[in-house]
Parts: sequence; structure tokens; C-alpha cells
Amino acid sequence: MDNVSDAVHYVFLAASACFVLGLHLMNHPRTARRGNALSAGAMAVALGATVWLVADEGVISGTGWLVLVTGGVIGAALGLWAAREVQMTAMPQLVSFFNAVGGGAAALIAVDDLLQTEEAALLGARVSLPGALDIVIGAVTFSGSLIAAGKLQGVVSGAPVVFPGARLLNVLLPVSFVAGTVWLVLSPDSPVALYGLVGVALIFGVTMVLPIGGADMPVVIALLNAFTGSAVAMAGFVLDEAALIIAGMLVSASGGILTKLMADAMNRSIANIVIGGFGTGDSVPAATGSGAPAQVRSVSADDVAIQLAYAGKVVFVPGYGLAAAQAQHELGDLANLLTDHGVDVSYAVHPVAGRMPGHMNVLLAEANVPYTQLKEMDDVNPEFPQADVALVIGANDVTNPIARKPGNAISGMPILDVDKARSVVVIKRSMGHGYAGIDNELYADPKTGMLFSDAKKGLAELKAAVGEFVG
Ligand code: TAP
Repeated sequence: MDNVSDAVHYVFLAASACFVLGLHLMNHPRTARRGNALSAGAMAVALGATVWLVADEGVISGTGWLVLVTGGVIGAALGLWAAREVQMTAMPQLVSFFNAVGGGAAALIAVDDLLQTEEAALLGARVSLPGALDIVIGAVTFSGSLIAAGKLQGVVSGAPVVFPGARLLNVLLPVSFVAGTVWLVLSPDSPVALYGLVGVALIFGVTMVLPIGGADMPVVIALLNAFTGSAVAMAGFVLDEAALIIAGMLVSASGGILTKLMADAMNRSIANIVIGGFGTGDSVPAATGSGAPAQVRSVSADDVAIQLAYAGKVVFVPGYGLAAAQAQHELGDLANLLTDHGVDVSYAVHPVAGRMPGHMNVLLAEANVPYTQLKEMDDVNPEFPQADVALVIGANDVTNPIARKPGNAISGMPILDVDKARSVVVIKRSMGHGYAGIDNELYADPKTGMLFSDAKKGLAELKAAVGEFVG
């Protein structure tokens, strides 16, 4: 190794350490921005070091540099534009699109390596095996992520798309990966094995994701994110590049942990989500429930305002409806008004409230809600019995006491113990179901009042009415 190569490897090592530290900082909302900046900065430095190494080795022609710089500028500009312009509600499909790009790029690295046929014939399994795995995982991620993004964007049907023989195909295709991988490892210079493996993997990405309901996509996207990381790590083995291996494994591990956490918080196995269960969106037919139409008590904004103004402790319970209505600022304003009036205010955040990981945290951060008022499920549940009012805004499944009973779609799912508060107010537009498609027993509880309204409109009315009482 010459001096430049040595120096670049130390830079990669330092960058990898920064990735780990960055991930650690992302554990808490207060330090998450710093963690993001540190990781992004480390990636920029690692990219710069790569360019330095390539320039030093003199392996790229003038045209090659033009392609490299043009591609880099276009990619960076698109990334910057997307990060700034894409709405928060469209983040899952953006992440999915980024997964597709990452998986596809990783697969292309292996394809390129193996296409240099004279050398490919000489490759040992140390390179051809990770190369084949890179192609399989990267290509599955590429096509699967595009379908997932399409489902969330409404370009592809959000309902499970099942065609005759789909299940059989989803068993046969992975079997053919194994055969194709063995073939490619034994004959790394065979274009038929190479293109065959790419083709089969691309088809499997499509057939794997099509039958999954649109509302399950966030979990699938986290899973595909883990796949992207694995593909990138395999590309690291192909290129013998430690920084890629470390960065890829970090993405793979964190994506895998996130997938497991989400599945656990929904009390479903990852296999159940991937093979398909409930989860086609908001209009899923009732899977179970009481059967009879629930008797509920309807309340007005003025009724609720009196309750809030005289309360000592109020817990807000945000859910998907808050995000759909983009009512976070109205909620923040109402909370500030109550806090100024001396009411003890907090927000109960369920791990799978909304439709993407951290959905409520991101929304509430947009409204500048103090982190000290955000409480996770395990911390806030013991506080509900002391709450004078639990105000549920567009949350449904995560508050449904039926989860404590066996034999329904959300049995065993940990919930927020909203029904233990002294009184409950629910803001939603109708008696419509949530994601799981079942009746919510909370609404029929005598101490629950239903404020039927769009969340944004209802919160604005509440704020005005509370303002009159306390102002
Ligand atoms: P949901 O149970 O999906 O209920 C959302 C409620 O919001 C609906 O009942 C709907 O009732 C109401 N709503 C919709 N638009 C509204 C608006 N503009 N104003 C007021 N209300 C509105 O939500 P949740 O309690 O947050 O639970 C999340 C669900 O998603 C869980 O079942 C979870 O397992 C699942 N899930 C979550 C994730 C992640 S990572 N968060 C991923 C996949 C699945 P109306 O139509 O009557 O208004």
C-alpha cells in the first residue's frame, strides 16, 4: 500500500466510527439532528477520500471522470431536492425509492465485476459468492422497493394483488436463487447464469411485494431497507472495501431491528406481514368486533373545552388521523394554551401510531412540542388513571381495549391505556375503523365523548373555545 491508500483507509475507518456514533445519537430526538449531520458528514468525507484514491491510482479516463462528476452532481441535486420538497406524509415512499436506488446500485457493482469475463473466470468463491448474493438481494430490493413505493403513492393498487399460482411462484423463485447462486459461483464467467439470476431476482421482488396490502408497506420498507444494507455489505466484499461492509451491515442491522420492533409492537410476526394478513388500508372490512352498532355519546367543542379548562392533567393521544389531517400545529397551539393556563400536559406516543416508524414524533417535532412532554407507551400508561382527560386525536387501534381480549385482529397488541383515564374525548370524523378494520370498544365506554370532526377543524374549534374560557 502507498501513502495515499494508507491514509484513505484510515479515513474510512474514522468515517465508520462516525456512522456508529451517528446512529447512537439518533436514539433520542434531542440528539437525532446531530447524529444525522455527523453520519452525513462522515459519508461526504468518505466519498471525497474515494475520489482522492481513484485520482491517485489514475484508473479513470477523462470520460470516466465526466460520468462520475455529472452523476454525482445530478444525484446530489435530486437528493437535496427530494429531502426539501417531499411532504412528510410521502416520506415512506421516498425512503422506499432510496432503498431501490441503493439495492440497484449495489447489484450493479457485482454485475460489473462479474462482466469483466476474462477476470471473472479466475474469481474464487471469496468474490463470486458475495457477488451472487449481492445480485440476488440488490435486485430483489430494487424491484420490490419500486412496487412498495408505487403502492404507497397510489400508482400500483394498495390492495393485495394476488394472481393464480402466486404462492407457488413465491416458493419456486427463491429455490431458483439457490440454484442460480451455485451456478454463478461455479461459473462466474457465465453470462446466462449472471443474467438469469438478475432476472429471477427482479421478478421475485415484484411477486413478493404485490400480494402485501398497502398499509403493511412501512414494515415491508423497513425490511427492504435491511436488504439494501446487506446488498451494500456484499458489494463491500466484492470490492474488498471495509467501509462499505461496515456501513452496509449497520444499515442491515438497524433495518432488521426496526422491522422486528414494528412487528412486535403490532403483535404480528414478520412472516405474517410478508405472507399477508390484515392491512389493505383504511377501508379494510371489519375482521371482528362486537357486531352490534355501538351506542356512543357525541359531544361538542364547547363541552370538551370546559373539561379541558378545568382539568389538572391532560394526556393527548395522537394517531394516524392527526397526520392525515396535518393538524399537528393546531394540537401544539391547544397544548400551549392549556400549559399557560397551568394544566399538566403530555403526549402519549404509541410505537406504531400512524403509518411509519416515529410518525408521531416527527409530526410533533414539526409543531415544536417540547421533548419533555412526549411520553412513550410504557412510561405514560401508569399515568392514565391520574389524567382528568385523555384527548384522542385520530388514533384508533392503538387505543382499542379489545386488544386485551383473545380472538381478534389485534389481540395481544400492546395499547395505550386510554380507557383508564377519568374521562376520554375522541376526535375523529365518523365511526369508521382504523387500520385493523375492527370496532373500538373505547367509543362505547360511558366515560368517552365523541367529537366527530376532522382533526384540524376540531382542534382549531377547541382552541378557540378553550381560549374563551381561559382568556
Ligand atoms: P388507525 O387505527 O389507523 O386509526 C386512524 C383513525 O384516524 C381512523 O379510525 C380514522 O377515523 C381517523 N382519521 C382519519 N383521517 C382523519 C382526519 N382527517 N381527522 C380525524 N380523524 C381522522 O390509527 P392509529 O391508532 O394511529 O394506529 C395505527 C395503525 O396502523 C395500527 O393498527 C398499526 O398496527 C398500523 N401500522 C402502523 C405502522 C407504523 S410503523 N406506524 C405500520 C403499519 C401499520 P375516521 O375515518 O372516522 O375519521
